[in-house]
Amino acid sequence: MYTKKILLVCLGNICRSPTAHAVLSHKAKLQSFDIAIDSAGTSASHKGERPDSRSVRAGSARGYNFGGLHSRPVFQQDFADFDLILAMDNDNLAELKRRCPAEHAHKIRLFLSFHPEYPEINEVPDPYYSGSKGFELVLDLIEQASDKLLVAPEIRGA
Ligand code: 4NP
Repeated sequence: MYTKKILLVCLGNICRSPTAHAVLSHKAKLQSFDIAIDSAGTSASHKGERPDSRSVRAGSARGYNFGGLHSRPVFQQDFADFDLILAMDNDNLAELKRRCPAEHAHKIRLFLSFHPEYPEINEVPDPYYSGSKGFELVLDLIEQASDKLLVAPEIRGA
C-alpha cells in the first residue's frame, strides 16, 4: 500500500509542529500504521534548533519522543513531495497557501480540521509566550486531532 506523507507546519518548528510530529508518530507506531511524517516552519528563524525545552518537557511527561527532531523551514519542493500539509493555525495556513503552486493547493488544510470539535476549535494556539498551561493545551489539542486523523478515510484510503 502507498505510504501517505504528511507535513506538519507551524511558525518556528520548535513548539507545535514538533509536538504534533512526536505525538502522531507515537500513535501511528502503536497502531502499526505505516505513515511518513515530517514537520517544518514557515519561518527559518529557528533553523537547526532542537524543539523548545518546554515542549520536550511537557511531551516527554506524556511519553512522547522528540529525539532526532531539528527545526527546518518549509521548502517549495515540500508542496510536491507531501500528500497532506497541515497548518497549526490560520496565519500559517494563509502563508502556506500563498507559497503553494495551484496544482498542490488541495493538500493544505488546518491540522485541527481533524479535531472532534472543528470548526469551533480550529487553531493550535502559539505557546511560545505562554506558561506551562499553553504547552499542555497544545498537547491536548494535538492528541485529540491525531486520534481522529489516524482513522480518517483520506488517511486510511489507498
Ligand atoms: P511554534 O512556536 O511556531 O509552535 O514553533 C513559536 C516558536 C518561535 C516563535 C514563535 C512561535 N518566535 O517568535 O520566535
